Amino acid sequence: MRSPARQQRRQQLIQQYVLSRRTMLALIGLACAPALEMCLGNKSYATAPDLPANQDIPTLPQKNNSAIQLERQEQLSAVRLQYQLAFRLPNAVRVATLPLQEVFDQAYKNNREILSQKIAANQQAFQQSPKPFVTLEDYAAVFKVLPLPDIAKTFKSNDTFAKQRLSGPNPMELTNVLSLNYNLFEKLGITDEIFQTVLLSQTGKADESETLNSATQEGRLFVTDYARLDSTHVTLKSNRFLTAPIALYYADRSRSHSRLIPIAIQLGQVPKESLLCTPMDGVDWTLAKLIAQMADFNVHELVRHLGQTHLALEPIALATVRELAARHPVNVLLKPHFEFTMAINALADQVLINPGGYVDIIFGSTIESSLNLTTLGISEFFNNFSNFALPNNLRQRGVDERSVLRDFPYRDDGLLVWDALLDYVSQYVGIYYRSNQDVIEDFELQNWLQVLRKSVSDGGFGIVSLPPRLTNRDQLINLLTQIIFTAGPQHSAIAWIQYQYMSFIPNMPGAIYQPIPTVKGTMQDESSLTHFLSGIEQTFAQVNVIASISNKVDIKAFTDFGVNSFQDPRAINVLKSLQDRLEVVEKQISQRNQRREEYYPGFLPSRMANSTSA
Ligand SMILES: [Fe+2]
Repeated sequence: MRSPARQQRRQQLIQQYVLSRRTMLALIGLACAPALEMCLGNKSYATAPDLPANQDIPTLPQKNNSAIQLERQEQLSAVRLQYQLAFRLPNAVRVATLPLQEVFDQAYKNNREILSQKIAANQQAFQQSPKPFVTLEDYAAVFKVLPLPDIAKTFKSNDTFAKQRLSGPNPMELTNVLSLNYNLFEKLGITDEIFQTVLLSQTGKADESETLNSATQEGRLFVTDYARLDSTHVTLKSNRFLTAPIALYYADRSRSHSRLIPIAIQLGQVPKESLLCTPMDGVDWTLAKLIAQMADFNVHELVRHLGQTHLALEPIALATVRELAARHPVNVLLKPHFEFTMAINALADQVLINPGGYVDIIFGSTIESSLNLTTLGISEFFNNFSNFALPNNLRQRGVDERSVLRDFPYRDDGLLVWDALLDYVSQYVGIYYRSNQDVIEDFELQNWLQVLRKSVSDGGFGIVSLPPRLTNRDQLINLLTQIIFTAGPQHSAIAWIQYQYMSFIPNMPGAIYQPIPTVKGTMQDESSLTHFLSGIEQTFAQVNVIASISNKVDIKAFTDFGVNSFQDPRAINVLKSLQDRLEVVEKQISQRNQRREEYYPGFLPSRMANSTSA
């Protein structure tokens, strides 16, 4: 019979953690194992003796005896048969056939079905009394059942345009001119006179001492340069038009709160040839903003979203399941963050990126050309992997300094989540890797790395910028933090916010249907802009797909891992610390949102998913 103290300890353990029923049952079962009793008896897990030979407790392969090592190899051989490889794009390996354990669960399917019915009902309601889009406001009429996004009230304002670079769906583009390798005057046909006139009109203050050079040196000038949409990369469909605009912004810090002021938009990459519009240009400026928003839509969906989350994560998920045994601690750590990723990507093959699918209907470029942009985006990600870790990415873009850009919600909230994850992964790695030597000797981990970093032409998965070997715990911690952050928080931040900004066509059109203007003054009024925007078919394609991919269909909360819940009490303990910390992060972001002019939900832990699953 167990002693009362031991029973009480077990009861405390159960009550302490909010776990799924399945995990709870597994934990109770585990509590009978002498191995667990040994763990519970040790207050300092870092100095715990060798790990128990229990299948549910992760172990490093080099710590196993030869029989278990053989068992691991046999399990991996079986997994490799199940998860065979295929290519949809040339640089992103995919699973050939979706294994049964990767398909959506019933709760996910039910949620998806409810959402689909709502989207269909919305379109049907409009079609009962369809109205043409004569004014920009008429696009609001497509929201019959689906809610009209708030952006419909503010989309015309310059402030709203600029804020989308800081707290919209794609806060990944804004870059400080100081951080770029180019001379501003070689890229933009702008003069100090134009700059000062716009500043005066937007701030009400004349300041002839502030020139483009001085503002650049002070770090106050930022651009969003959509050079990747240049015609050399893009083939257009007939009657659709695209360009590679550059937008210039000025960080005004003269007020109590900072403000990003749009200064100019150049409708192409060639200064003087490409039309330069400023806020002084009336309807031409409104059109220039629309074109810049269209470019941002293209880069967001094809590069940042599809390329640099969905399709970049599947190779990592595949390497993890194929190279790390089920009981490997890194497999156990990452598994919840790959849930449904292969399934959603397989669904995207069928309805999103197939010929005649949503991407084909909505975007200005051909489907092959759109997917080429995605391929280039994946290469950019794989060739510079660690540069996409949030702190590095912010630094490289010159947007990390609060003294330069005071209010940047994506940065400020994202770093709270990043830091929490970094601590969590550090503690988790510390359970299993007692020293750097443990990392070096982990042959499954080193194989995993080799498979990931070998080029596709050499039979690898193409993340060629990964280091040749993992030699210490910090390297591993940074790598795992970046993977988890990308799969959960980053995808959630750029996906669940799409509906608010990208479903309302006059804020963010997927394509432009008239030639990009080369002269000003040809439009009579704002209603003329509707000729540049989509008709009913493409509008509903955009509304429907954005509504469909903006929802966190998986009902589980971030850090609730369901069937993939941890079984090792030490890892459960570390996860509980993360959950406690995320509660604090939730409060911090909520408080910030009360002070902000615009609510930014991107990194609210309560809204995040564990994985890229929708
Ligand atoms: Fe997504």
